[in-house]
Amino acid sequence: MENVFKSQLSVLRQKKKLSQEALAQKLFISRQSISKWENGDAEPDIDKLILLSEIFAVNLDFLLAGKNTSEECILSLKNIAKSFKKPVLKDINLSIYGRDRIALLGANGSGKTTIVKTIMGLVKPDSGEISSILNPKDDLSVMPQENILIESLRVKEHVRLSARIQDQYIPQHVNDMLEIFQLKHHEKSAVSQLSGGQKRRLALLISLLKPSKLLILDEPTVGMDLESIDFFWNYLDHIGGSVLTITHDFNQIDQFFSRVVLLKNGVIAADESVAKIHSNNQTIEQWYRSNNQERVTIK
Ligand SMILES: Nc1ncnc2c1ncn2[C@@H]1O[C@H](COP(=O)(O)OP(=O)(O)OP(=O)(O)O)[C@@H](O)[C@H]1O
Ligand SMILES: [Mg+2]
Repeated sequence: MENVFKSQLSVLRQKKKLSQEALAQKLFISRQSISKWENGDAEPDIDKLILLSEIFAVNLDFLLAGKNTSEECILSLKNIAKSFKKPVLKDINLSIYGRDRIALLGANGSGKTTIVKTIMGLVKPDSGEISSILNPKDDLSVMPQENILIESLRVKEHVRLSARIQDQYIPQHVNDMLEIFQLKHHEKSAVSQLSGGQKRRLALLISLLKPSKLLILDEPTVGMDLESIDFFWNYLDHIGGSVLTITHDFNQIDQFFSRVVLLKNGVIAADESVAKIHSNNQTIEQWYRSNNQERVTIK
């Protein structure tokens, strides 16, 4: 198991918006000690490691190795192939574990949404196997790439209906969610009258009505303004379960995700822990660019 503690520490510290000084105070040690840990010149003893895992709300595996090695596999795709006119998915092998935070990356048309639809059961693979411990109705929530909204309903009616379908209808919960997602002022408007970004927030709200073991978000922040995007990532950081997100929002992947998976030419071309990439002094964007390069021949 590779030790990626030093990069994990600096990422988790920055995510919590703690300076080296502030973290040092919490641990009753000097700022220099934190600096030595982050430079890889020294390592904390076990007591301090346990304190750090409490401060960052992660387990020790995640702090030291960048992955939750003890978590169980909740969904697994084995040798999945799917062609439409042309082969899109050729041989997809992907396992998702409890508490994984996966960013699924890949060029336009590479088949990311097709993978999501395969997991949802909307696309039937030509071959391969999906095994899962999830009960799709209770444990899986999805925010699709295209909003699936009933345009003629009013916003609040829509949230109520979605909550009822998901067995989550409690009037206070509906009101709270409308408030949190800044749709309270629009609750009486018809969905058709919302702006693109507001519709995206409504779709997100609906996908978050119930706590799920696996939440899949297909380009959730497209069309949202900066404030909503910031709100979205902070909100997501506080929910439980595993999250698989398709996003091109590279500013956020470094902070939010634990694992990146790259889809290219119909296969999972790379699958790496974010901590490992950071320990190689790369950002996720640099990693993506170097792994997703096509050889361009100039004639
Ligand atoms: N129902 C369908 N019928 C025919 N072709 C399809 C269908 N669904 C997807 N495709 C094709 O499969 C390929 C992959 O599509 P997909 O939507 O999975 O890509 P994507 O990686 O999600 O792209 P984007 O980043 O643009 O969302 C595309 O070439 C698309 O045209
Ligand atoms: Mg897509």
